Amino acid sequence: MSDVPRECPETPVLETPCKIEKRPIEIKKIAVNTGGGDAPGLNAVIRAVTLSALREGWEVVGIPHGYAGLLDTSKLMPLTRERVRGITSLGGTILGTANKGNPFEMPEEGPNGVTLVDRSDIVVDNFHKQGIDALVCIGGDGSMRIGKKFMLKGMPMVCVPKTIDNDVFGTAITFGFDTAVSTASDCIDKLQPTAEAHERVFVVEVMGRYVGWIALNAGISTTADVILLPEIPFDLDKVCAKIRERDAMGRKFSIVVVAEGAKPIDADTLFTQGPKEAGREIRLGGISGWLAAEIARRTGKETRSIILGHLQRGGHPTTFDRLLCLRMGAAAVRFLKEGLTSVMTALHPPSIVPFPVDESVGKMKCVPLDCDTIQTGRAIGVCFGD
Ligand code: F6P
Repeated sequence: MSDVPRECPETPVLETPCKIEKRPIEIKKIAVNTGGGDAPGLNAVIRAVTLSALREGWEVVGIPHGYAGLLDTSKLMPLTRERVRGITSLGGTILGTANKGNPFEMPEEGPNGVTLVDRSDIVVDNFHKQGIDALVCIGGDGSMRIGKKFMLKGMPMVCVPKTIDNDVFGTAITFGFDTAVSTASDCIDKLQPTAEAHERVFVVEVMGRYVGWIALNAGISTTADVILLPEIPFDLDKVCAKIRERDAMGRKFSIVVVAEGAKPIDADTLFTQGPKEAGREIRLGGISGWLAAEIARRTGKETRSIILGHLQRGGHPTTFDRLLCLRMGAAAVRFLKEGLTSVMTALHPPSIVPFPVDESVGKMKCVPLDCDTIQTGRAIGVCFGD
C-alpha cells in the first residue's frame, strides 16, 4: 500500500519495550488539550485528568483547539470541578479540537499564496510564561507526532491515545473505537430489513483511514456478508460471486461493509475526496459509490450505497469507552506524579501502562490477518474479497 503514510509492524506490540526512565518534575499546574479528529470520550478524559490533578493540589488549564490554542493565551480555559461536572457522557470536546493546527507547519496566507510557517517557539514560550509544568495531550498519531517535537523542545508531556480508527501502535484499544463500532453496527442493523424487503444489495462505507478495525468489528457483529478491509486488497469477482451464491440460496439481499481505505487488487490509489489541503491529511472516502455501481453492473442486482461518515464520531461514548477514558485520564496524572513523561497511557489488558510515545509514532496498528476475528468471519462464511 504505497499511499499509506505509516509503517505497519506485523504484530502490534503489547509489551512495554524497555525500562522507562523516571524524571521527577515539580508540578503545580498542568494543561490539557485535545487534537485531531474528535472521538467519543474526549470529555470523559478531560474530567478524569482535571479531577485527579485537582486532588493532587495542581491547577488545571484547558487549551482550546489543540496545540495552536497556545499561540493566543487569552482563550485558555481554567478547568475546575464545576467546569467538568456532568461531561463524562458528552460527545465532542469542551476544549474544541483541530486537525490543521500544527504549530510547526501553520498555513499562512502571504504574497506568494499559502505557505507553512513554524510558530512552535511561540507555543513553547507561552507554555512556560503561563507557568505550566506539563501537558496532557489527548490525541492520535498526528497529535503525538507533533507532541514528540514539543517534548524535544522541553515541554514535559503525557499523551492519551484517541481515535475511532483504533490504529495507534502500542495500545490494545484507543478510546472512541468501541462507540464508533457500536454506532456503525446500529446503522447496519437498520439497513438489513430494508435490504431484505427490497432484495437489494447495500454497500455500507465506514471510517477507519488505512486500517479496517471498524469495518471488521462492525461487519462481523452485524453478520455482514462481505467485509472489505485495507489490509486485504479485494477481488471484485469474489465479492460478486458471494452475492450470486446468496441469491442462488434464496438469500436475495446482501450487506457489504467496506472500509474507506479498502482498495481492489488492481488499483494503485485509494478513493479520496478533493485535493490534499496544506497542513492536513488527505480525506479518504467514496469507494462505496463506485463499488455499488460495479456490483450492480456485474450482478444485475439493485445496489445502493451509504457512507456513515461522521455519525461514527458523534453521540455519547459507550460504557466501555467512558470507563477506558476515565482510567486513561487518571493514569495520565498518575504517570506525571511518578515522573513519567514522553509516554502515552496504553491499555495492556487488564492494566493501563506507560508506553513510550517514541515507540508508537510513525507506526500503525493494522488488523493482523490471522487474528481470531478474521478467523471467526471466515468460519461463519464471510467473504473478505480474497
Ligand atoms: O481519524 C479519524 C477519522 O474519522 C477517520 O476515520 C477519517 O478518515 C478522518 O478522521 C476524517 O477526518 P475529517 O473529519 O477531517 O474529514
